[in-house]
Amino acid sequence: MSDVQIIMAESAGFCFGVKRAVDTVYQEITRCAEEGRGPLYTYGPIIHNEQVVSYFEKQGVKVIKSVNELRSVRKGTVIIRSHGVSKEICTILDQNGLHTVDATCPFVKKIHRIVEKESSNGKRIIIIGNNSHPEVEGIRGWCGGDVTVIETQEEAESLRIPEDREICIVSQTTFNSNKFKDLVEIIRKKRYDILVLNTICNATEERQNEARTIAARTDAMIVIGDDRSSNTQKLFEICKAVCRRTYHVQTAADLQPAWLMDIRSIGITAGASTPNNIIEEVQNNVRLNV
Ligand code: F3S
Repeated sequence: MSDVQIIMAESAGFCFGVKRAVDTVYQEITRCAEEGRGPLYTYGPIIHNEQVVSYFEKQGVKVIKSVNELRSVRKGTVIIRSHGVSKEICTILDQNGLHTVDATCPFVKKIHRIVEKESSNGKRIIIIGNNSHPEVEGIRGWCGGDVTVIETQEEAESLRIPEDREICIVSQTTFNSNKFKDLVEIIRKKRYDILVLNTICNATEERQNEARTIAARTDAMIVIGDDRSSNTQKLFEICKAVCRRTYHVQTAADLQPAWLMDIRSIGITAGASTPNNIIEEVQNNVRLNV
């Protein structure tokens, strides 16, 4: 038996919001068939995980990929995923007479309510996050007035807003908390009247902190998650910063034997959209090869 220590992150895998969204799809497959509410759609892939999405596709769940595609759907049930959607999408769903099942994570829903309220109070909304991420697209769509999305130090430094304008800053739920604080500090120095609401989800912060701690004390670190999962990419960045030998895999098939050479300890974590069976498979494979 090998004496390589394997440390598995307790917070690895589905978070509350993702689990809720995936469970909703399972429930709706049955309900739609019983109540004749089909066809069943999700607006965008339910999670950033190819295996899960293709399993649902085989069960007849179709993925609507764009607003234009949604406009042409006139019958059936549409599940809104945990990332949430903009107000415009909700209106189209209504106008097209579609049955909507909202699986938006309550933490994301809370941001929608904040930005809707604060922008109607006249504040300029600043979202700290990735502009092209569906969650940020959804949040943007609840800001009545002007909205700016900032992701980098350069963008924060070049921000120009009339000084008499009040600002409300929120964050994408999966943003790196240290980076969020840094960007807020840059904006704060410009002396705007600022309301800062740290809307980073605890699940993300806990997962990030645990990953950082494990990576800092192990010789190698494996981060499991889909290529398109933003929180997986962030986890990878965090681990890589403290553990040079940090590797990203989507499934156990991506593991390379060379990664497991000359190590005394290895850590494993996974993004919020990584199913348990994939985590277990990677863990078992690492166990067999160290
Ligand atoms: Fe929700 Fe947090 Fe997950 S915002 S979707 S519980 S990462």
